[in-house]
Amino acid sequence: MFQKEVYIQRRAELKKLLGSGMVVLQGNGEAAVNYRGNDYPFRQDSSFIYYVGLDMPDLAYVVDIDNDREYLFGNELTMDDIIWMGNLPSLKERAAEVGLSTVLPMADLKGILKSAPVMYLKPYRYRNLLMLSELLGKKPDEITRDFSVELTRAVVKMRLIKSQEELLELEDAGKTGTVMHFMAMQMCHAGIPEQKIVDMIEGIALAEGRTSFPTILSMNGQTLHNHDHSGVLQAGRLMLCDAGSENRSHYASDFTRTTAVDGDYTPKQIDIHAIVQKALNDSIALAKPGITYKSVHRNAYKIIFEGLRDLGLTKGDTEEALNAGAPALFMPHGLGHALGLDVHDMENLGETFVGYDDETTRDTLFGYSSLRFGKRLEAGHVLTVEPGIYFIPQLIAKWEKEKINTQFINFSALKGYLNFGGIRLEDDIVITDKGCRLVYSHRLPLTPYELKNATTLEGLLKN
Ligand code: GLY
Ligand code: MN
Ligand code: MN
Repeated sequence: MFQKEVYIQRRAELKKLLGSGMVVLQGNGEAAVNYRGNDYPFRQDSSFIYYVGLDMPDLAYVVDIDNDREYLFGNELTMDDIIWMGNLPSLKERAAEVGLSTVLPMADLKGILKSAPVMYLKPYRYRNLLMLSELLGKKPDEITRDFSVELTRAVVKMRLIKSQEELLELEDAGKTGTVMHFMAMQMCHAGIPEQKIVDMIEGIALAEGRTSFPTILSMNGQTLHNHDHSGVLQAGRLMLCDAGSENRSHYASDFTRTTAVDGDYTPKQIDIHAIVQKALNDSIALAKPGITYKSVHRNAYKIIFEGLRDLGLTKGDTEEALNAGAPALFMPHGLGHALGLDVHDMENLGETFVGYDDETTRDTLFGYSSLRFGKRLEAGHVLTVEPGIYFIPQLIAKWEKEKINTQFINFSALKGYLNFGGIRLEDDIVITDKGCRLVYSHRLPLTPYELKNATTLEGLLKN
């Protein structure tokens, strides 16, 4: 938790942006695994964390802007709570830590919300949807439909620009994520089960908080979000590991490295790795205030298309191929996304609110359409940069059969790559006044050479 002034200032800024009206921000509740009391680890709503800072269930924050009143709703500890969970600080004491003085029981929330039209964010949990439905007397689908665009835009505007104290938290998450990947790289040897590596690196994340998303780790890196860890590492294969940590303040990291088993990259793997590495490094070199991330994505597609053309896998004119979306065969996802309190920051509020605006709209062409963040970059944006090249046999077969982009793809040469898998490399950057920098400055090894000469995990832990 930050100093209470941080939350007071954020709420004041939100009020200023909105000008008038009433806002309710719902905190999350506990979610049962198999019965109430045996719950998933509690995860507070990220916007609630941002404005209210209190990391505990069953709270709601209301601001009545016109009457300049703000309230925290929640129930004080009962004797039962104290018996089972201990003599914790009272809600009133907790509220004071984030600059809130009026604490009312949850039962009073409905009455307050009746006094004016209410702005709220679109709920993504059924509990919160049903609560709002009950509180506002509307059907759940009406609640989903009538979320406040104005509030959503204001929250996105504020949360997208990371403050210095947030950058320190992101750096902290970056450090843990980096240690996770060192561990994965060091364990990448023939005969090791994928699951064992997942367990080890998730243990590192747990020691500092949790993982920021379910770990992706597989020799079958061509499956973009592969959560099947049933393989046993084999010589000659690649291990794609996409993993990150969420620290105890709930800030996330998100890195990907693709490592040859035993560190022995084949010539083909070296060639493809070099193209992805160039796409990553050139994207980082390009990212700066004033240019759109959409253009950085397109440039990554250019590097991938031309790199594969040098290997004889693609052909034809670069601009025509880019306009036709040909590189999407190899990278059917976006170059990156915003990162913050959520690994895909604020995705619950709607990707288009986060990543696009009136000036930069989402493309509809396959591949480009998957870009989560396309708009102009500003100092303080934190983003992932995650180009990849994948050989997805089913997608290649479909394009060949349906004659999609045949003038740009050398399908016969691709036959030799159907068992290749995929390579993705992902770093986290923050846009600065003049360019960008890595969120956590100690960059993970990228190249086969660097990997073999990597700083040891022990060395990193001493930093
Ligand atoms: N961790 C999933 C992604 O890179 O977006
Ligand atoms: Mn990732
Ligand atoms: Mn990512």
